[in-house]
Amino acid sequence: MTDPDYYSNVLEAAEYIRSQVTDIPDVCLVLGSGLGPLTDRVSSISTIPYEKIPHFPRTTVAGHEGMLLVAKLSGRLTFIMKGRFHYYEGYSTKDATFYVRVMASLGVKTLVMTNAAGGINEKMKPSELMVITDHIGLFCDSPLRGANLDEFGPRFPDQTQVYDVSLRNKIIEAAEELQIPLHQGVYVYTRGPQYETPAEIRALKTLGGDAVGMSTVAEAIAASHSGMKVLAVSCITNYAAGISGQPLSHDEVMQNANASSKNSIALMEKFFSKL
Ligand code: HPA
Repeated sequence: MTDPDYYSNVLEAAEYIRSQVTDIPDVCLVLGSGLGPLTDRVSSISTIPYEKIPHFPRTTVAGHEGMLLVAKLSGRLTFIMKGRFHYYEGYSTKDATFYVRVMASLGVKTLVMTNAAGGINEKMKPSELMVITDHIGLFCDSPLRGANLDEFGPRFPDQTQVYDVSLRNKIIEAAEELQIPLHQGVYVYTRGPQYETPAEIRALKTLGGDAVGMSTVAEAIAASHSGMKVLAVSCITNYAAGISGQPLSHDEVMQNANASSKNSIALMEKFFSKL
């Protein structure tokens, strides 16, 4: 069963953030691999380490710091989450989406996420970007399991349009203006932390996946359940297992995430200027 304290913990965390921030943004950007340096380009108005926020989980992955910023990004007041929580770290999907509920409680209406993903569709090459049109979350423990949080949304939420079309059109427009190639495709979630086998990737390709990764889906489900608009962009950091014949490594993932960092940051800045 759901922890009966979950909702009150969410409210407590939101209350703490409210006490630390004068103006509450209505958009939240979650920085995945490669986007960390974006925070060097904004002057933050508030910086709150995750450990100060009541009930917030801690990040455990190298390269994922635990810091919530309030900053202006291209003139738009934004919560920036530097570091997120993954199921493979040992968190439940409810823990991993705790921050999404906190953001919803603070009145955030738009959740923008970035992540690293392996390219299943051969068009998706390392260091290129893909905006997520839909996901396959069949392997994801639902963050909505247990007693429904009626304060946020219904027991059986529709998932026909988890990713908002108008936000997607805005980022496509931004990419065109910057002449940054931006694919569109379906993101498949796997639990990790091991990468997939070639046979798994062939199966995921048959299911209709274009890229594969270990984050984002639970958060998108919780956000859509909370009535938020969702946009998510994957940085393709490697060919998925078996596609190039080369073994996968976290080093390669980080290298390609960093190689595309300039484009991902420019794209986000342009997109935010249109919000
Ligand atoms: N599989 C799963 N997660 C990933 C990958 C991958 O190939 N690349 C980056 N994150």
